[in-house]
Amino acid sequence: MKLRSAILQMKPYTAGKPISEVKRELGLDDIIKLASNENPLGCSENVTRVINELSTQVNLYPDASNFELKKELANQLNVNPNQIFLSTGSDSIIRAICSIFIEQDEESIMGEVSFQRYEDNTKLMGGKVVKIPMKNHGLDLERMVDSITDKTRILWFCTPNNPTGSMISKQELLSVIDRIPKDVIFVMDEAYYEYVDDENFPQTIPMLDKYPNMIILRTFSKAYGLAGLRVGYGIASEEIAKYINAVIGPFDVNLIAQNAALAALKDKDFLNRVVTLNREAREYFYSEFEKMGLEYIKSQANFVMVKINTDDKLIFNELLKKGVIVRPGYLFDMPGWLRVSTGTMEQNKRFISALKEVLA
Ligand SMILES: Cc1ncc(COP(=O)(O)O)c(C=O)c1O
Repeated sequence: MKLRSAILQMKPYTAGKPISEVKRELGLDDIIKLASNENPLGCSENVTRVINELSTQVNLYPDASNFELKKELANQLNVNPNQIFLSTGSDSIIRAICSIFIEQDEESIMGEVSFQRYEDNTKLMGGKVVKIPMKNHGLDLERMVDSITDKTRILWFCTPNNPTGSMISKQELLSVIDRIPKDVIFVMDEAYYEYVDDENFPQTIPMLDKYPNMIILRTFSKAYGLAGLRVGYGIASEEIAKYINAVIGPFDVNLIAQNAALAALKDKDFLNRVVTLNREAREYFYSEFEKMGLEYIKSQANFVMVKINTDDKLIFNELLKKGVIVRPGYLFDMPGWLRVSTGTMEQNKRFISALKEVLA
């Protein structure tokens, strides 16, 4: 067997611990998972209806052009459908982007504490990641752009950033954007876009005309609650979209997923409820952490990082025993911290009382 040398460097992704695994390992029944930034309200009822209706049609291939879904997205985002690409989660689009732009030994630049899949997929192509230290738990855009060399192909701007929840402000972006060479791609990964309520968040889509080296990524996994169906999308110049569409699989977005995403897009009431609950949950976490004297990072996403000032692996395991799954910070190179996703208010309260008990 002769493997590509890049493969030897790959390590599997550590996902949030599944509820079924905790049930099995700890013999618990009543478990809440606040570990993978999933949607505690499920998904729109319209989506459930569509899924049921289509259950007898899975013998058919999906529409390879994603015509209806692209049309609706194009309408809502005010772009040309030819600028849109879809795949099995934005995760698969990250891989497609790396496969298009990164040759052996070329580089991409990311934040030191940011989404791991940028690193995995850069390495898959035989490339290297350059990790730039964070500035106040946010991406240091100045240093990221200053670090561009002849080898740099992609900058990963994760905003809001997973796992810190920080965002790139419009001023920050504008202060560096003209220094990014036109042959370097910058990816605005906006997976948590719908949760943002800071008015300084830049609206990137209208900037695409001026910056054809920009790629915007979004997903149906978070605010739309379709993580299990796997639908992500991106918006870029027609030229980049053409190349991305050429490398992603023609049937990546399955028949049920395409129609579910379309139904999800049309249910703005559901989205509003999700965003309202998330805001309430974030505020609740902040006020509880303050009462407990714990440092935390203000978040524009559906999760919050909190500093527990002790061994995060230990606290993670103690919380598991109480049926509460979160994400320990050591996984993100932030030992001593936990990342907790927002849940229903009942789940949030259960997490806070479990955390109090465990820390005591
Ligand atoms: C910043 C960021 N980008 C992309 C993704 C991938 O999401 P999906 O593949 O479910 O669309 C995630 C998922 O956690 C994420 O946090």
